[in-house]
Amino acid sequence: MKKITIAEMAKYTGQTVKLGAWIANKRSSGKIAFLQLRDGSGFVQGVVVKAEVGDEIFAAAKALTQETSLYVTGEVKEDDRSAFGYELQVTGIEVLHEAKDFPITPKEHGTEFLMDNRHLWLRSRKQHAIMKIRNEIIRSTYEFFNENGFVKVDPPILTGSAPEGTSELFATKYFEEDAFLSQSGQLYMEAAAMALGKVFSFGPTFRAEKSKTRRHLIEFWMIEPEMAFVEHSESLEVQEQFVSHIVQSVLKNCQLELGRLERDTSKLEKIKAPFPRITYDEAITWLNDNGFNDIEWGEDFGAPHETAIAEHYDMPVFIINYPIGIKPFYMQPHPERDDVVLCADLIAPEGYGEIIGGSERIYDYELMKQRINEHGLDEAAYAWYLELSKYGAVPHSGFGLGLERTVAWISGAEHVRESIPFPRLLNRLYP
Ligand code: 4AD
Ligand code: MG
Repeated sequence: MKKITIAEMAKYTGQTVKLGAWIANKRSSGKIAFLQLRDGSGFVQGVVVKAEVGDEIFAAAKALTQETSLYVTGEVKEDDRSAFGYELQVTGIEVLHEAKDFPITPKEHGTEFLMDNRHLWLRSRKQHAIMKIRNEIIRSTYEFFNENGFVKVDPPILTGSAPEGTSELFATKYFEEDAFLSQSGQLYMEAAAMALGKVFSFGPTFRAEKSKTRRHLIEFWMIEPEMAFVEHSESLEVQEQFVSHIVQSVLKNCQLELGRLERDTSKLEKIKAPFPRITYDEAITWLNDNGFNDIEWGEDFGAPHETAIAEHYDMPVFIINYPIGIKPFYMQPHPERDDVVLCADLIAPEGYGEIIGGSERIYDYELMKQRINEHGLDEAAYAWYLELSKYGAVPHSGFGLGLERTVAWISGAEHVRESIPFPRLLNRLYP
């Protein structure tokens, strides 16, 4: 008999197969038992009919506890009532390991309890669906950049520089030297773009931010493309194409998961390039005109501001040209104004906040040196970076997309902690 996975069941309609599975849930009467089976690849209902399997197998099925592992044999049947479309008419059961008192029962639990049990909570239907959507976003990211001529480059995690400001660094010793965990691979990606043209990275980044919000993780994954000879407006086009591509890929390949999460997919179907663009100046004026008197020109947006702007558009929206004072040292000044820079944040709809930060980069040697000093950065640590604007400097642009915020938005998760397998949060390093 063939051993298959739940995901492969459609190919075996009418055949008797063997599945390795866990019991996700179960209900039974005197004559019939319904086993909710999961095997990692998916979820399916197993139906055990006493009259067909006999007393012994039926009694074994009735005794199965949540998360008990087993081999099940049975016939694959089409089933229009389930979203999955198939069920297993069970003929045999072989218990591998009996699980007793699984903590995550199918009832409401508090967040802290679930987070303490993250290693087990991951098995639940909802968490399974979010991880599958995360995987589709990762897959379609590689697809997008490979199809568009980008080369994947892996910047170091242990670094001696701080691209996004010095206040949120995880410091560590590198033998005798001081080192930091990477906040962003950008500076290295700029060097790589000068060697390979269009590059992208995809890796973990670390921010010792004392922020406890639904959008902040201490360790998160970032996709950082960098493009030589590309101006900022051209970079915005890549960004909107990229985000459209991943949203449309999830819609195409994760219908079951979106359904399980009860995600309103009509909101996602609309997500197609081009995205609206507003300037920082316009955003401030709009906010002040719409009852937000707690922000003035020169200040950064808070979550309520971003949410209000996003709701107004019902689409991801680019806010461009922020004040120079609230952005990092490397951003190219606006050609006609010295108070703003050529940058954009992409704000996701539905209150998920900024999912992309990007800009054109300075490529004038003197200006770069001046900005490094103005920001109080150690010039020696940036000597290599400065050399990029010394040997064949070119206009170039790039951006960083936060994976977990994007997963949270597309899957409709409440909080970024559910969009990464083992979140690192303020006060949480376990499990
Ligand atoms: O806006 P950020 O800080 O930009 C950079 O790091 C640039 N160097 C990227 C580049 O141009 N190559 O971060 C980029 C994105 C944010 O828009 C957000 O989606 C995500 O990274 N992000 C976080 N996600 C979760 N938790 C945090 N603490 C995050 N901080 C940033
Ligand atoms: Mg940012």
